[in-house]
Amino acid sequence: MTAARPVIIAGNWKMHTTPADAGELATTIARRVGEVDVVRVICPPFVCLAAVGDALAGTGVAVGAQNVHHELAGAYTGEVSAPMLVSLASWVILGHSERRRDAGETDELIGRKLGRAIEVGLRPILCVGEQLAERDAGQAPNVVQAQLHGALEGRDAGALLDAGLVIAYEPVWAIGTGRNAQGSDAAGMADTIRTVLASIGFGERSEEVPILYGGSVTAANIPEFLAEPSIDGALVGGASLKPDEMAGIVGRAGVTARARRQAGALGAPSGS
Ligand code: 13P
Repeated sequence: MTAARPVIIAGNWKMHTTPADAGELATTIARRVGEVDVVRVICPPFVCLAAVGDALAGTGVAVGAQNVHHELAGAYTGEVSAPMLVSLASWVILGHSERRRDAGETDELIGRKLGRAIEVGLRPILCVGEQLAERDAGQAPNVVQAQLHGALEGRDAGALLDAGLVIAYEPVWAIGTGRNAQGSDAAGMADTIRTVLASIGFGERSEEVPILYGGSVTAANIPEFLAEPSIDGALVGGASLKPDEMAGIVGRAGVTARARRQAGALGAPSGS
């Protein structure tokens, strides 16, 4: 049976925008994407969360952070904790490959961040994905399996489900390269991800976990991913800074949401 999962489009602005211009960009994007049956999230840099939150108030577009510290408070210069974020964001991206690369984040550390996020009620988007050499060596499913085990094994699956855990499959070779994966690759990995989740305590409820694709998503290629029933949306990088692209991506996701709802495969709009 197909579980009822929402369609989700999340924009990861990475290290772009300033507090002076982020609000205006968020307003423009919210206007362009309009009210659709799609969970919409914008994840700006920490320092832009307040401006983006103000700009998005009443639009139905949610705000997310791009990272959170694994401790609640303490002597961690330059870091941002989960309790600091709760009044500014309702979502958080965790384990992005750029943080694994630049900040040396391990699966174990990412798992602890996940615990902190759900402790305060932030909805987590856990990123996984393989490097090109790993894909070429036929190791992609093993790499993603190890990432999921490292971050999630031993954690309370029920609590993660209650928190609305989302997994983003972002093959590293597809991020910022203009070289997107095939829809069928992403769908195959989504199946792997749900199989792994089922084996580490999620059981049949692994079908409830939304899985997004990320990596060079554009308005032109989003239909290929949304055509796959196991893919529930996208985590969008570069294109999420372009209102026209976001309008195209979210518009297409709205078409998918309507079709899935008619087919009885979509839950109530939620998550914003
Ligand atoms: P791009 O869409 O720019 O490839 O980035 C994807 C990504 O990393 C989203 O988190």
